[in-house]
Amino acid sequence: MESRQLTVLYGSQTGTAQDVAERVAREAKRRHFSTKVLSMDQYPIASLIHEPMVIFVCSTTGQGDEPDNMKVFWKFLLRKNLPTNSLCQLNFAVLGLGDSSYQKFNFVAKKLQKRLQQLGGTPLHTLGLADDQHDLGPDAVVDPWLNTLWNKVLSLHPLPSDKAIISEHILPPPRYKVQFVDGDEHSMNGLHVPTDSNVSGPSQDNPFYARLVSNNRITADDHWQDVRLIKLDVSGSGLSHAAGDVAMIQPPNLPDEVQTFIQLLKLNPEDRILLQQNDPDVPLPPTLPQPCSIQHLVEQYWDIHAVPRRWFFTLLSYFADNELEKEKFQEFSTAEGQEELYSYCNRPKRTTLEVLEDFPHVINTIPVDYLFDLIPPIQPRAFSIASSLQAHPNEVHVLMAVVQYKTKLFTPRRGLCSTWLSSLNPQKDDVRVPMWIRRGTISFPRTPATPVIMVGPGTGLAPFRGFIEERTTCGIGGNVLFFGSRNEDKDYFCASEWQPLVEKGLLSVYTAFSRDQEEKIYVQHRIKENGAEIWDLIHNQEAWIFVAGNAKQMPTDVQSALQSVLMEHGDMGETEADRYIHSLEHRRRYQVEAWS
Ligand code: 2AM
Repeated sequence: MESRQLTVLYGSQTGTAQDVAERVAREAKRRHFSTKVLSMDQYPIASLIHEPMVIFVCSTTGQGDEPDNMKVFWKFLLRKNLPTNSLCQLNFAVLGLGDSSYQKFNFVAKKLQKRLQQLGGTPLHTLGLADDQHDLGPDAVVDPWLNTLWNKVLSLHPLPSDKAIISEHILPPPRYKVQFVDGDEHSMNGLHVPTDSNVSGPSQDNPFYARLVSNNRITADDHWQDVRLIKLDVSGSGLSHAAGDVAMIQPPNLPDEVQTFIQLLKLNPEDRILLQQNDPDVPLPPTLPQPCSIQHLVEQYWDIHAVPRRWFFTLLSYFADNELEKEKFQEFSTAEGQEELYSYCNRPKRTTLEVLEDFPHVINTIPVDYLFDLIPPIQPRAFSIASSLQAHPNEVHVLMAVVQYKTKLFTPRRGLCSTWLSSLNPQKDDVRVPMWIRRGTISFPRTPATPVIMVGPGTGLAPFRGFIEERTTCGIGGNVLFFGSRNEDKDYFCASEWQPLVEKGLLSVYTAFSRDQEEKIYVQHRIKENGAEIWDLIHNQEAWIFVAGNAKQMPTDVQSALQSVLMEHGDMGETEADRYIHSLEHRRRYQVEAWS
C-alpha cells in the first residue's frame, strides 16, 4: 500500500494553533493517514527534505512575530545557504491564525508560505488566513479551508480501495491508555519517572522548582490594580539569563477549582493511574510521574481553568446520554453552532470547570481515559524578567499584574498564574515555583557607548528594569526611560530605585501619569514634548529604541509620536520619517515587545 504520511507542524503561542493542528491531524487520521503533530521546534528540521506532505498551522503574535515554539525552525529556514530546490519533494499548506485588528495580520503565515515556495515546496492549497475578529471566530475560515485541503490531498493520495473516510460520528480512540494501579512510583519497575538530572538545563519537560523569596504588592492598596514584584531564588539551577529574557512559569490549578472538579466528577484523588501510549505518534507527557495520582493530575496537569474549545464539545457529544445535553454539544460542534459557542464560552471566558457544572448529566459518563483528550495540559505563562544577574545574583524577578476582570458572568475572571503567584506567602510555606528560561525577542545593544531609549508604560517596564540594572550596576549611563501609569502616588512602579541612578547621571526618567490631571497624558505625549533630545539621541548618538507593554494601541501611538519627532526635528516628510523608522527597525535599533 502507498505510504500515507502527513505531518502537521504548528507554531502556537497560546495553544490555539496547536488545537487547530490537532484537529487537522484527527481529520487526517479519519482519512487513513499516519499522522504526527509537533511544534515546529520539536520537529527534527533536517527531516523536512524527506517529508512528502506537511500542513503548517501558525499564529502571529505581538507585532508580527512568530510564536516562540517555531523560532528556531524559522531561523533555520531563513538560512541563506539553503539551496532553492531543497524542498522540491514537499507538498505543503499553510494555515495562519491572526487578528485583523493588528497591522501585521497573519504576517508569520504569509512569510512562511513565501519561504517554503522559494525553497521549492509545492503549495497544496492557497494560504489560509483565519481571523480572530471574525464574528464566528477563526473557524469561519478554518472550516472551508480544510474542506478544500482534504479534496486536494485526497486527489493526490486517494483512499485505498477498501477504505472509506471514517465518519466524524465515530468516537476516535483515546490519546492514552489509562489503567488504575496500586502501589507508588518506586514500586513500579521500568516505568518513566521524571528525573532531576538537568543535563541540558531546566526546560518545560524538566522545570526548576524555584524558591519564592518575596511577593510584594507594588501598587497602593486602594489602587484598582494589584501589581506584584515577585522574587524567585534560582540558586543551584544552572539557569542564567540576560536582559530581555523571559521566565516561563508553570502554574497549577487554583485549590478551590481543584476541589470542585474532583467532587463534580466524583473522582477519588488518591487513585493512581498508569498511562500507556495508545498511538505510536503520540508520546506520553514527559512531566507526569508514573503512576500518577488523580490529585496530581487535577492539581498540576489538566487545564480545568481554560476556556474549552470546540473539540471538547464534540467529544462530550459522544458520551452524553441526556438528549438535551447531547443536542447542545452537537450544535456546538458544527460550523453553524460556532457563533453560539463563541458567545457561550469565549466571550464571557467561561472555564472548562464552569461548563462541566452547566451539564450535570454528562459529567458522570466521561470515561477517565478521555479526560486527557477533553482537557489539554495547563500551558506555561511567559513573563519578561525584570531583574539582572549583576544586581541580583541567583534571582529572577517578575513584575506582574494580577489579572482579574468582569464579564457577563457573575464570578469575576481570574488569571490562573497571576492569581496563584499572588496568593503565595514565602514566610508561611516553602513554596516552589516550576520555571525555566526562554531567550527573549528583545535584544539590547551590548556596547556600553550606545544610548537606549526605553518606552515601557505599566508592566512594560519589566524588561527595562532588568536592562537598567544590568547597565547601571556596571556604571553605564545613557539610559532614557519613558514610564507611564495612572497615578504618581498609586502605581509608579519601582520609583524609589530610579532616584539614586538619576542623581548619579546614569538614568533619565520621563513620566506620564494619565489620571493625575483632567486630560490624559501618555508616554507618547512625553516623547513629543522631548522631541529635540530624542532626535539628538537617535540621529547623533545612534541610540536604540525599545517599546514594551500590554496596551494594544500603545505601540502604534508611540510609533506615530516618533514619526512626528523625526518630521519636526529631523526635517523629514511623512514618508521619509516612515522609511527612517523602518530602517531603524531593520537594523534592530527599534524593537517592540507587546503582549495582551
Ligand atoms: P489609562 O489606563 O489611564 O488609559 C499603563 O497601563 C498606562 O498606559 C496607563 O496610564 C494607561 O492609561 C496608559 N495607556 C493606555 N492606553 C495607552 C496608549 N494607547 N498609549 C499609551 N499609553 C496608554
